Amino acid sequence: MNTAIRSVLGRRIWDSRGRPTVEVEVELASGVRGRGIAPAGASRGSNEAIDLRDGGTTLGGWGVDRALASVNEPIAAALRGHDAMDQAGVDRELIELDGTKTKSRLGGNATIAASLAVLDAAAKACGLPLWRHLAGEAEVRLPLPQIQIFGGGAHAGRRIDIQDLLIMPLDATSFDQAMAMTAEVYRAAGERMHRMGRRMGVADEGGWWPAFASNEEAIETLAASIDDAGFRNGEVAIALDVAASEFGREGRYTLALEKREYDTEGWLKIVEGWIRRYPIVSVEDPVAEHDVEGMRAFTAIAGDRVQVIGDDYLVTDAERVRVAAAEAACNAVLIKPNQAGTVTETHEALQAARRVGWGTIVSARSGETEDVAIVHLAVGWNAGQLKVGSFARSERMAKWNEALRVEGELGPAARYAGRRALARTVGDE
Ligand code: PGA
Ligand code: ZN
Repeated sequence: MNTAIRSVLGRRIWDSRGRPTVEVEVELASGVRGRGIAPAGASRGSNEAIDLRDGGTTLGGWGVDRALASVNEPIAAALRGHDAMDQAGVDRELIELDGTKTKSRLGGNATIAASLAVLDAAAKACGLPLWRHLAGEAEVRLPLPQIQIFGGGAHAGRRIDIQDLLIMPLDATSFDQAMAMTAEVYRAAGERMHRMGRRMGVADEGGWWPAFASNEEAIETLAASIDDAGFRNGEVAIALDVAASEFGREGRYTLALEKREYDTEGWLKIVEGWIRRYPIVSVEDPVAEHDVEGMRAFTAIAGDRVQVIGDDYLVTDAERVRVAAAEAACNAVLIKPNQAGTVTETHEALQAARRVGWGTIVSARSGETEDVAIVHLAVGWNAGQLKVGSFARSERMAKWNEALRVEGELGPAARYAGRRALARTVGDE
C-alpha cells in the first residue's frame, strides 16, 4: 500500500467550551485518511507549546485562522510526499519547519493536530486500531484512571483554588469495574452536594461545581462521597491536581477562598496535612511551575507516600523530565501531547520518565472534543494511567467509553493497571 502523504487539510471545528480549534485531515496516496484534533488548556505551563490564536475581538480572540494557515500552507507543503509510516521523520519535519522551542511560529495547535493526523492515517493504513499500531507486539495494560469529581481553579471561575479533586479506583479488577466504581462515587458526590443545598451544575471538565467554604471542605466532601458510595480502606483513593501555578507567585501562595497567604514552606505544610488526614495517593503541581525548590521539598517530604506529578513544571518535555529526576523533584509526569507539539516529542517525554522509574499519566486538556486518540496513546504506550476529566459531558465520556471498547477487544488478555501503575517509590512494600 502506498502510504505517502498526498494532502493535508486543516479545518476549523469547535471544542467543549464552544471555542474554535484545529482539525487536520491527512490523505495518503492509497486514499486512506487520518484525523487529528488539537485540544486546549486553560491552566497552561509557561513553557508548553504555544496555542496559536488570532487575538482581536472576534470569537474573543480565540480564532484559529493563523494556525489553520500554518496547516494549509507550510505544513501541507512540507509533509506532502512524506511516508506516513515514518512518524519520527514527519515530526522532525514539523519541528524544523517551525524552528522555535515552543512551536510559536506554526502554533503547537497546528503541529499536534497534523502529527496526530499522520499517526491516525498510518494506523488505518495498517488496518489496526491506533493502540495496537503503537504497541506492536509489546504488552499493554488498561490504564488506572484519574477521574475528576469536583472541578475548581481555572475550570470553575476560581470558585475554589485547587483545580482538580479526583478519584483513582485502585482496587478495581478491570477498567469496566473502575468505571462502575467511579459512577457510584460521582453520583454519591452529586447527592451529597444536593443534600448540602450546594448542587449547582458542573465545571469545565464535568466535575461538580465546587460550592465550598474552603479548599479543605472540598477534599473532605470527596472523602465522604467515597465513603457514601461504600468504598473502604483506600480501594478508591483521592488524587489532587493543585495546579498551584495559578495562585503561586514568587514563593507566595494565596488562597483566594480562605483569604490566606503562605510562603512555600507554610503552603507545603497545608498540603502535607491534607495527605495525613485524607486518603490521598497522588498530588499534581503542588507548587508553582518555577518553584523548583518547593517541588524538591515536597517530593522529599511526601514522595514516598504519594505520587508527585509535574504538569506545568515539566510540560511534557523529555529534557525537563531528566533534569527534574536528577534533582529528585517529582516522581511522575503528566503527558499532554499538545504541550509538546508532536507525537514523537510526547513519546520521548514518556520514555524519559519510564527510564527513571516514574509514573506516567497520559492526559487530556480542559478544552476537548469527541476525539479519543489520547486513550489509544495511553494504552498503546502502556502508560499505566489516564486522566481525561470527569464522569459527565460527552467529550469526557467518549474517552472512558473508548477505553472500555479496547478492553473488550483485548478480551481475556486485558489487564487493568490498578495501583501498581503509581510511581515506583509510592507505597512500595
Ligand atoms: P488545562 O489543565 O487543560 O486547563 O491546562 C489541566 C491540568 O492542569 O491538568
Ligand atoms: Zn495539571
